Amino acid sequence: MPSRNEPTSRAGQPSSRSEAVLPFYVMEAVRAAQELEAAGHEILHLEVGQPSTMAPKKVRDVAHKALDTNVLGYTMPHGIPELRNGIAQWYDTRYGLQVDPGRVIITPGASGSCAVAFLSLFDVGDRVGVIEPGYPCYRNDLAVLGIDVVSIPVGPDTGYRPTPDTLSNYGNLDGLVLASPSNPTGTVLNLAELTALSDWAAAAGTHLVVDEIYHGITYDKPAPSALGLDNPNITVFNSFSKYWSMTGWRLGWIVVPEGMFDPFERVLANLLISAPTLSQIGGVAALDSIDECEANVARYAENRTILLEGLPTAGITDIAPPDGAFYVWADVGHLLESHGCANAQELCSRWLNEIGVAATPGIDFDIERGHRFVRFSYAGSAADITVAIERLATWCAAPTPS
Ligand SMILES: Cc1ncc(COP(=O)(O)O)c(C=O)c1O
Repeated sequence: MPSRNEPTSRAGQPSSRSEAVLPFYVMEAVRAAQELEAAGHEILHLEVGQPSTMAPKKVRDVAHKALDTNVLGYTMPHGIPELRNGIAQWYDTRYGLQVDPGRVIITPGASGSCAVAFLSLFDVGDRVGVIEPGYPCYRNDLAVLGIDVVSIPVGPDTGYRPTPDTLSNYGNLDGLVLASPSNPTGTVLNLAELTALSDWAAAAGTHLVVDEIYHGITYDKPAPSALGLDNPNITVFNSFSKYWSMTGWRLGWIVVPEGMFDPFERVLANLLISAPTLSQIGGVAALDSIDECEANVARYAENRTILLEGLPTAGITDIAPPDGAFYVWADVGHLLESHGCANAQELCSRWLNEIGVAATPGIDFDIERGHRFVRFSYAGSAADITVAIERLATWCAAPTPS
């Protein structure tokens, strides 16, 4: 035991919270596939959770011009007025919703939105619910901020959607994070489902945070925005990463709850100063590039059909309703048994090494049950998905190696 006056050395020691935070395993699946590819192997990418297309042409054009003409200094922490107004206008055009541009704060992507929203809304020790399977960074970000993460499992009985009944089993929650469409399941909450969850949160005095990053990427019907609900306390965030095909531009936004602009902006200003200026200029042009974005969605729809028709030929039939985003969440428990794999990590590693098919093991998205699930992304090319299905069908039909 060091004596009271003897200093303990913290130098060279990371914080215990950063030591405890789980890795973002999805990126490890991406890295393993890239390493094999760099070594000359042909890899079919069904692991990557991002579009394979460039940012829209108008975005690239204005960015080229801005590089030569604009100082590109910091912007105000809440972002440039053209983009905030453009986003408010987008809610009107797309959803018929009137959103005050004064509630829009521009962020460096939905990841930045999560950090700013979680820091602005929650205190150390608060209890915040996250849905499992769900995007892992909510859980990991909350944990590293010292917030008590309450995992709320959902499954096939509710179509992988949380309901007020599900939530009532988890005691008092200071916050609840939802995503619609969801990553990894692709499920969309319809207006009645969103309303029921919002009413539950209002009655419980719970902050509701809704991630709408996959809005625009839906197949049968559009996803309703939580901003259309009669609840002024909802925080909604979105990003240019997916629908607008701009992952590396690091650009997103938050629509803050009424009356909460100042704390959100203070946190963002101190943490990040502002979102990248070049990207904000590009974002204005992105809002005027809907035809290109819709062409990408049409391509995802074709890929989705190939995957949904193809997976049963590989014996993979137990999947979450893929209403939106570009993922299929599949139970592969039967393949683990038939092919002697301990878990989905081993299964994905064998697919990668034996047939060059990269998919993401489910452990990241659901700590308890994810070991028997795989996420397939169909953001890539139709040709890759078609060949991947053929290889998976052959592999899955083959007898277990002795
Ligand atoms: C559900 C979800 N939310 C947030 C993010 C982070 O996105 P961004 O690139 O905007 O930071 C992702 C990225 O894949 C995601 O799938």
